Amino acid sequence: MSEQTDKFKKYGIDPSRLPRHVAIIMDGNGRWAKKKFMNRVSGHEKGSEAVRSIVTICREIEIEVLTLYAFSTENWARPKAEVAALMALLKKFIVSEIDSLHKKGIRLEMIGQKEKLPQDVRDALDGAMSHTARNKQMCLNLALSYGGREEIVHAVRKIASKVKKGKLSSGKITEEVISQHLYTRKLPDPDMVIRTSGEMRLSNFLLWQSGYAEFFFTKTLWPDFTEQEFVEMVKDYQSRDRRFGKVVCSSNDGSQQ
Ligand code: FPP
Repeated sequence: MSEQTDKFKKYGIDPSRLPRHVAIIMDGNGRWAKKKFMNRVSGHEKGSEAVRSIVTICREIEIEVLTLYAFSTENWARPKAEVAALMALLKKFIVSEIDSLHKKGIRLEMIGQKEKLPQDVRDALDGAMSHTARNKQMCLNLALSYGGREEIVHAVRKIASKVKKGKLSSGKITEEVISQHLYTRKLPDPDMVIRTSGEMRLSNFLLWQSGYAEFFFTKTLWPDFTEQEFVEMVKDYQSRDRRFGKVVCSSNDGSQQ
């Protein structure tokens, strides 16, 4: 058996039915810390370790895109010290992981309001994104100062400006045109959206793009989320019947599913 086949067999994953894009709402860092009588920042630090292991397993099983909701437009309203700690952690992650990401052929990208991020985080991001820009094995896409509604407003403004300049007629605005003006224009839509910590909300994450995604909710708090639980979700995904609103006719009995 080849090393490749062996790898998928080990996890019980069918390589022909992999999700292309997995998106994760990493929730529960604060509650994890509280349970351990630690401060919230310690929860985020532990959360960064979980990020490392989920990136590793995604690369191993050949997921094309992993989007992580690392900081939302709403997160700016958190206490100043927590926002500063999260920004520092992000920069630390980018600086410390860049070589390892590059060696694994992983390209770093981001979606969201880059201009709102502190200059040092932007510099680290820009450096890491250009360093890894040609990598093709996987895309690690960080959602930073990201909000789905803000993204749609941003896209509508760009489209309206084209219409005003006569570069686009309003009748030619299609779903495709809208998708092409979102931050995610170069990425496939997410096939799986995962949220940890027991909450069952989308919280303004990839609102347009997750129209046909499969959803996975777990009570596990993000710092405790493991590669094993992730693999179980991928297997569950592979057992689901994705119809995209269509009916599937069985060749045996003519019935519709
Ligand atoms: C939500 O948990 C988590 C966040 C707002 C931040 C996520 C950040 C990390 C996992 C670490 C840094 C990220 C990277 C990519 C290195 P919460 O604080 O809302 O938890 P709670 O709901 O239990 O309070």
